[in-house]
Amino acid sequence: MNNISIDLAQKKILDATCGSRTIWFNKNHPAAVYCDIRSENQMIWKSHDGTEERICLVEPDIVCDFTALPFENNSFSLVVFDPPHLVRAKETSWLVKKYGKLGENWPQMIHDGFKECMRVLKPDGVLIFKWSEHDIPAADVWRAIGEKPLFGHHSGKASGTFWGCFMKF
Ligand SMILES: C[S@@+](CC[C@H](N)C(=O)[O-])C[C@H]1O[C@@H](n2cnc3c(N)ncnc32)[C@H](O)[C@@H]1O
Repeated sequence: MNNISIDLAQKKILDATCGSRTIWFNKNHPAAVYCDIRSENQMIWKSHDGTEERICLVEPDIVCDFTALPFENNSFSLVVFDPPHLVRAKETSWLVKKYGKLGENWPQMIHDGFKECMRVLKPDGVLIFKWSEHDIPAADVWRAIGEKPLFGHHSGKASGTFWGCFMKF
């Protein structure tokens, strides 16, 4: 839900694709503004015997599109960009319900989102780009955005997730 009472002057960190805030230790960090294109609370998976279920709770501070962020240039010291990474999964899969899905125009979309994140980053600010290579190799993503991270690291099961670090020079 949009919260128009947010004091952006207190916000040093932008999470442009917060989803369920899984990556955060403190899911309501006072220095962060959490954004996503959707706000929802839905059951995304239930076991056959009905005894277990997974809920996806997405409650951004601001609902917005990462290709058109509603912030001024040079606003944040740190930006987190963890866009959807799936292109082949079915719409009905719990992974798509939790993480979203990219269309055929994904190179343009990721390019535009990255440029927007860099625009709102302060000079010398840092952008952390998280990418799962489930469907698309990270190398294709760096080609789409026109630059590679300064450095990064593979993590996760089968090392399929890449965390990359960029800086706005
Ligand atoms: C991989 S998930 C992020 C997971 C999140 N970092 C976490 O810790 O749970 C990607 C998120 O990007 C959001 N998203 C997809 N397209 C978007 C867009 N154009 N602008 C903003 N958010 C978008 C999806 O709704 C989804 O919640």
